[in-house]
Amino acid sequence: MKSETKAKPPAKQASWQWAGVDSPWTLAEKALGRLGRIYLWGPPGVGKSFLAAKAAPNRFQLTLSDDHTVQELMGHYVPDGTVFRWHEGPVCQAFREGCPLVLNEIGRASAAVQDFLLGVLDSHDVARITLPSGAHLRPSPGFSVIATSNSPPDELEAALRSRFEAEIHVGRPHPDLCALLEAELPGLGEALDDSFNDPERALDPRRLLSFAGLRRANLPAREAACLAFGERAPDVIAALSARGLKL
Ligand SMILES: Nc1ncnc2c1ncn2[C@@H]1O[C@H](COP(=O)(O)OP(=O)(O)OP(=O)(O)O)[C@@H](O)[C@H]1O
Ligand SMILES: [Mg+2]
Repeated sequence: MKSETKAKPPAKQASWQWAGVDSPWTLAEKALGRLGRIYLWGPPGVGKSFLAAKAAPNRFQLTLSDDHTVQELMGHYVPDGTVFRWHEGPVCQAFREGCPLVLNEIGRASAAVQDFLLGVLDSHDVARITLPSGAHLRPSPGFSVIATSNSPPDELEAALRSRFEAEIHVGRPHPDLCALLEAELPGLGEALDDSFNDPERALDPRRLLSFAGLRRANLPAREAACLAFGERAPDVIAALSARGLKL
């Protein structure tokens, strides 16, 4: 009987490849210079916050969780002697001063905070925050939101997701991060990048930075690996040695 070998379907091209750019990071950089509300997502340590920090040095930055309240973000009255004084929260401050606002893990915020953010993330002609005093705050020119997350945007509530002007998936480390590691130890940056071909086996960029730093501080390779990679140390060192790295 003739055995049929099924042709493997061609790997789906990522949309950034289809767009003809060299990496999703290039698209992210272009978006940061042009758009006011961006959702940047990908695995831990690949350089999302670093990019946001570089693009927006005068930013306000928050890592959201279920514990955050609308009052913390917007502002609230605090007793001051015999009177109450308004204490402005970071979202209102960024809004009023026209600064970028970096929101990490927006999807982990409570439903109440996410509802509050709907008004903050509206386009500039619509966005406003109504304060407890009844005053309305409009966003000043320069206000923008960069959300970074490890989770895909389809985990966001539809109305919140729709307020972002772009969603960018950065599935592998920033080329400058790989270049930095490559300069520390030839082959290390390339090994990091290649490890992301299989997300299950991806190396943690922060741990590689730690390993490179420990080597720079003259710690022997095995000791540095134990500290940086824990139980994975023998496997990581074996894999790096097999690539010809001089550890
Ligand atoms: N472009 C870069 N150039 C040099 N170093 C970088 C770059 N990007 C990231 N790094 C280094 O990698 C570390 C991790 O990057 P970053 O904090 O941006 O990761 P992240 O993607 O935001 O991760 P998480 O999802 O866990 O928050 C940074 O502390 C920085 O030292
Ligand atoms: Mg981050």
